[in-house]
Amino acid sequence: MNVILFIKSIVICSLLDNFHYFSTVLAIERIEQKIVGGLAAEDGQYPYQVSLRINNRHFCGGSIINNRWILTAAHCLAGFNNTAISAVVGTNYLDKSGSIYQSKRIISHPKYSSLFIRNDIGLIELEKDIEFSEKIQPIKLPDTNFDKIDYPAILSGWGTTSYPGEPPNELQHIKLSVIDQHECLNTSFRVTNKNICTLSKKGEGACHGDSGGPLVADQVQIGVVSWGTPCAKGKPDVFTRVFSYADWIRGHCDKED
Ligand SMILES: *[C@@H]1O[C@H](CO)[C@@H](O)[C@H](O)[C@H]1NC(C)=O
Ligand SMILES: *[C@@H]1O[C@H](CO)[C@@H](O)[C@H](O)[C@H]1NC(C)=O
Repeated sequence: MNVILFIKSIVICSLLDNFHYFSTVLAIERIEQKIVGGLAAEDGQYPYQVSLRINNRHFCGGSIINNRWILTAAHCLAGFNNTAISAVVGTNYLDKSGSIYQSKRIISHPKYSSLFIRNDIGLIELEKDIEFSEKIQPIKLPDTNFDKIDYPAILSGWGTTSYPGEPPNELQHIKLSVIDQHECLNTSFRVTNKNICTLSKKGEGACHGDSGGPLVADQVQIGVVSWGTPCAKGKPDVFTRVFSYADWIRGHCDKED
């Protein structure tokens, strides 16, 4: 598994210079990713935050969208079988057990392209219902397309706090600014209107391990961490624009078993 992903990351890096998924599965070369320049979150502050694990090792973030489904990035799901992933909720700490739910089915967007990093969004159906509590709650999906500029949004995750670096034990968060979509599109040929970008000052931004995690504005999830130039180099971070996939998400997640 690790070997396959390792090869995949090398292929991607040699084809496309200067970009990195923010996933720790690709971290064999010590490219671990985490929020840079952030602060530790309060206990229960991000009740929708999920830590995705393989053999209890954190590799990506995710978010709770209802009692059966987790939203994440498609690149976080690549190479795993349906039942391989566990989703840990209800804790800010990687070393303190929250509630653990096993995956039953993983669904990457059918048009996900790892080469162009398009449609980098995926879903995990859990084996049983999540029990909600004060510290475990779903996040709202957007009803309208987000078009505010220089608007604050919150990113939370366990990505590395420096690059290269080790993932932090404690959930980090940072306030980022959503940038003009023209500027976002201008960042790279890979960016389309189904992405959303944030920028903060140099020394702040997403990093490895944040992949799949939620970008939230006004209590609504507007983005899923997709990729960027590691890490916090003053280049925009690129997210999958959740609104562009709202129908696809609801098509899967609103269904009763
Ligand atoms: C799925 O992946 C997990 C973790 O790598 C492994 O333990 C399990 O045996 C796999 N299951 C199947 C059906 O291949
Ligand atoms: C687009 O990028 C070019 C080159 O990096 C830059 O000169 C230009 O100002 C950018 N345009 C916008 C709208 O950001």
